Amino acid sequence: MVPAGAQQIGRAVDLLRAGELIGMPTETVYGLAADALNVAAVNKIFAAKGRPADHPLIVHLPDAEHMSRWARAIPKEAIVLARAFWPGPLTLILKREDGVPDAVTGGQDTVGLRVPDHPVALALLLAFDSGIAAPSANRFGRISPTTAAHVADELGDRVALILDGGACEVGIESTILDLSRDAPVILRPGAISAEDIAHVIGREPQVRCIIDETSGDKEDKAESVDRPRVSGSLAAHYAPRTPLQLAPTAQLAEIAATLAGEGSRVAVLAHGCADPRDARLLWRAAPADPVGYAHELYANLRDLDASGADFIVVEALPERAEWQPIRDRLGRAAVGSGEADET
Ligand code: TXA
Ligand code: MG
Repeated sequence: MVPAGAQQIGRAVDLLRAGELIGMPTETVYGLAADALNVAAVNKIFAAKGRPADHPLIVHLPDAEHMSRWARAIPKEAIVLARAFWPGPLTLILKREDGVPDAVTGGQDTVGLRVPDHPVALALLLAFDSGIAAPSANRFGRISPTTAAHVADELGDRVALILDGGACEVGIESTILDLSRDAPVILRPGAISAEDIAHVIGREPQVRCIIDETSGDKEDKAESVDRPRVSGSLAAHYAPRTPLQLAPTAQLAEIAATLAGEGSRVAVLAHGCADPRDARLLWRAAPADPVGYAHELYANLRDLDASGADFIVVEALPERAEWQPIRDRLGRAAVGSGEADET
């Protein structure tokens, strides 16, 4: 794959106008992109991902001026947040304009909007001059792609073109902030934190997306998720096929060694280094800071998933706020792991 230049962006625009799907890089993860006003094209996204039709899609815009074509009754807070964080990893949920297709919003009266901070995505959006609907370019429930090669692996046969924008800088999906109700609510944590948002709007958003990573069974958790429908808020999501468990730092080595001692192949994602004597473990060292960790997270999970291991053991992360978006992803990855694809 070659880096996307002007020629490929022109081709991508033509394909979008013709109702085709393309793979689009953003700073968070790669998106599976379609013309947001073309219902048939949007329906192809759901078919390609195997995603339930009532899960709404984010509409990507070239700039904040486009907001008023898609949303109405836009609160002042949305304007100031857009000014502060767009282009960037923040999705705003707003009341939708009449013309926004139900296929995009899952039939809800709101729409998710964001301006991605990636030169290829921005060039594409500027040339397209309209909204591009794009969920993460993975099969439903699976690990989001952070390189063009990941998109090719997940959905290569479903897209007309993949624009290669290199490895995604941020590495985890955008923060989703619901501004369609009285009080702002974070529906999905991301690189832009509640604190960052509070700093700009002068009030702390509520957070409605945290699941308990350590207790309860899958059914309980999956059912406990309430509306609005954010598929990233399902308890099982972002998941490898290999069973994945989280282990506190103090017990990590012992848990991994016990599994390996039972004859299993074990892959470990951890901050520390492996015991050099234990050759049975495939050990992947994760960056010590949350920015670096997020950047590599999905590529690491994909590699470990593809390594042939029977189990993936991930060192549990610090409770501090800056790790929370990553803890959120890993918690859901653990719940959803080890399951066959839905057909
Ligand atoms: O970083 C990102 O947000 C990436 C890149 C490609 O932009 N996109 C992404 O899309 O993660 P997706 O579809 O995988 O996740 C978007 C989430 C979904 O869980 C969806 O349910 C939620 O946003 N969402 C979209 N519109 C919504 C709305 N009107 N109300 C509530 N949730 C909404
Ligand atoms: Mg997704």
